[in-house]
Amino acid sequence: MPIESGNPVPSLGNIARFVRGIPKAELHVHLEGCIEPELMFALADRNGLTLRWPTPDSLRSAYDFPDLASFLALYFEGCRVLVQERDFYDVTRSYLTRAHADGVKRAEMFLGPQSFTDRGLPIGSILNPILAAIRDAEQADSISAALLVSAHRHRSEDDALYLLDSIMPWATDIAGIGMGGAELGNPPSKFAGFFRTCRERGFRTTIHAGEEGPASYVREALDLLRVDRIDHGNACLDDPALVRDLVARRTPLTVCPLSNARLHVVPSLSQHPLRRMLQAGLNVSVHSDDPPYFGGTVADNLLDCHQAFGLTMDEIATLARNSFASAFVTPSAAAHGIAAVDAFVAAFAP
Ligand code: ADE
Ligand code: ZN
Repeated sequence: MPIESGNPVPSLGNIARFVRGIPKAELHVHLEGCIEPELMFALADRNGLTLRWPTPDSLRSAYDFPDLASFLALYFEGCRVLVQERDFYDVTRSYLTRAHADGVKRAEMFLGPQSFTDRGLPIGSILNPILAAIRDAEQADSISAALLVSAHRHRSEDDALYLLDSIMPWATDIAGIGMGGAELGNPPSKFAGFFRTCRERGFRTTIHAGEEGPASYVREALDLLRVDRIDHGNACLDDPALVRDLVARRTPLTVCPLSNARLHVVPSLSQHPLRRMLQAGLNVSVHSDDPPYFGGTVADNLLDCHQAFGLTMDEIATLARNSFASAFVTPSAAAHGIAAVDAFVAAFAP
């Protein structure tokens, strides 16, 4: 029976409880994009750096972006405060604590080491503290967490291959390889050799595509790179044959509604195509991307979609099931997550 039967418009209190409580997997979040302004100031202070803003609130009010490029400029500027091993540890640990409070049972977090290795940080000083924070969070909160190493698409394929070689000693601790950065002008085809090498070395792969870029970028990601997931993917809706192929292959699309609204990839949250994507049969799930920059966690995304265009409890349950089905985990761990969603939905008392 649909969860809403007899209660077609759930009260905000009910839906908020449902959204926060439902088990979910966060598959698209960037650790560099998880530095809350207060933590940004604390890290700058710790590292003897001066920020351009006088207070955390004034930094927060600078989070107003006409497009992806303007966001990325501030995001890379923010990366400067990550200097010491304990900075990477603290950002990871604080994100996972918030995710746990949000009902996240599995978190797969991107980090792009090239921002830091450029400054001379050894790769181990970046990866080791993140992996330590993951282990500590898993012990403390029984959350399952993993690192996805992300390469920058505005750099060269050789740079990406160099990064890949540098992380090989940690290969068994890395859940997958991703790619973000400035999309327009940097199509997936630029990295065909890199993604082939990642696959040959046994990594699962994902790439941002169809965020600002066209449907043809999603097509390249699917057919040329043969990635396991696509981050965003919204532009696929412009190509019905592509939608048919994505549906047939159950390719996961990790959609980030608040990010899309804040970066003007969609005209407004109320006009976000999430429902159309669900209705087309696409394997979509909802994620936060860069929570403080875009206004919220994965639960905030779901709740804001409920308020903006009436995302229903049934749709939220489908998105939560899809998130576990799309995680880089064993089939039995995915099935366990989906069963937890089903049990939560069955037990939920409005
Ligand atoms: N890195 C962090 N957030 C990103 C986004 N939304 N698109 C591309 N690269 C990113
Ligand atoms: Zn992203």
